[in-house]
Amino acid sequence: MLKIDLIAAARPNFMKVAPLYRILRNHDDIDVRLVHTGQHYDANMSQAFFRDFSLPEPDINLGIGSGTHAEQTGRTLMAYERACIDNRPDWVVVVGDVNATLACSLAASKIGVRVGHVEAGLRSRDRAMPEEINRILTDAIADVLWTPSQDASDNLRSEGIPEGRIELVGNVMIDTFELMRTRIEAAHTREALSVMSGDYAVVTLHRPSNVDDPSKLAVLVKGLSRISADLPLVFPVHPRTRLRLEQAGFWQVMQAEPGIQLIEPQGYIDFMNLLTGAALAITDSGGMQEETSYLGIPCLTVRDNTERPVTLTHGTNRLVRAVDLVEAARSAAVSERDPRVHHHPPPFWDGRAAERIVASLRQRA
Ligand code: UD1
Repeated sequence: MLKIDLIAAARPNFMKVAPLYRILRNHDDIDVRLVHTGQHYDANMSQAFFRDFSLPEPDINLGIGSGTHAEQTGRTLMAYERACIDNRPDWVVVVGDVNATLACSLAASKIGVRVGHVEAGLRSRDRAMPEEINRILTDAIADVLWTPSQDASDNLRSEGIPEGRIELVGNVMIDTFELMRTRIEAAHTREALSVMSGDYAVVTLHRPSNVDDPSKLAVLVKGLSRISADLPLVFPVHPRTRLRLEQAGFWQVMQAEPGIQLIEPQGYIDFMNLLTGAALAITDSGGMQEETSYLGIPCLTVRDNTERPVTLTHGTNRLVRAVDLVEAARSAAVSERDPRVHHHPPPFWDGRAAERIVASLRQRA
């Protein structure tokens, strides 16, 4: 029996873990253990995704919760090492770039448990982002690096990672979207919010670099208010962002805008129903850059850089500064999808990435 721990911690992990779990649990000779570190714990940041993806209760919940980066990383490192010693897996599979990705990889590799990293090789080259540190360090110690795109494989080669550890497998988020497409299309989120397909933008912002500094946040709030005069905005607000908006006194300002709907963070199906109908996305999320590229929806990413350059070269993504947002939104919003983009997603973004990962794992077992 091959024992595999699959690690999930925070919202962007759940849609990456779901297609892997679905395949792994169907192999009689694989014993998969779902580990939730508990970094995200609110019902709408965590349980909603387990429900949407029909994931079972995690086998282990480490209950790490909020804290500084060192607190989150350190607590996860200790708790996951204990879980590995109590019931040692053959492999741990980590996804993405959150604190748990690094902590679980480090705990496992120090006690000789092999590590596979899904979504390896992405680099923003911005070490001020905690996720960049997590990516670099996880990739340095993982035994197999499953990359979503050619640029990611090239990054790893240029860092001297041995060729035998790198495998281009594609993007597991696309697997999830394709698996859930029918349910996404059948959802009534747009009706519930009274927005018409092709006639609104979806906004998500949560990066510390955008929301923690009140003067930067002020520029964004002003820009969004101006955009909303022409294009209705639906803004599911991350807990960090809500807190910052409230602290800076912007929450009421935005609520008073007739064109802006501030809503709770959404589950996967409801959120994707919103995104698939949007004329435009305004975001600082990593995943949304990929999802909009795949769907052919224009995306304005309010960041100076991206670890996902394939969304700039093969997709619909554009990096914008907060001060340029209004102008960029004017030129980017379209009511019809660009069919050229929709028909040419990057290689291996085909709904079969999880299959390739499981095949690779079995081969290396
Ligand atoms: C984390 C990830 C980031 C990812 C993001 C998506 C790291 C380093 N960062 O950042 O890559 O894009 O998740 O959401 O791992 N909070 C709640 N309820 C929750 C979760 C968080 O209220 O369920 C609050 C926390 O108390 C904290 C804030 O939200 O004040 C930030 O949460 P945290 O998990 O520290 O990091 P994110 O900013 O969400």
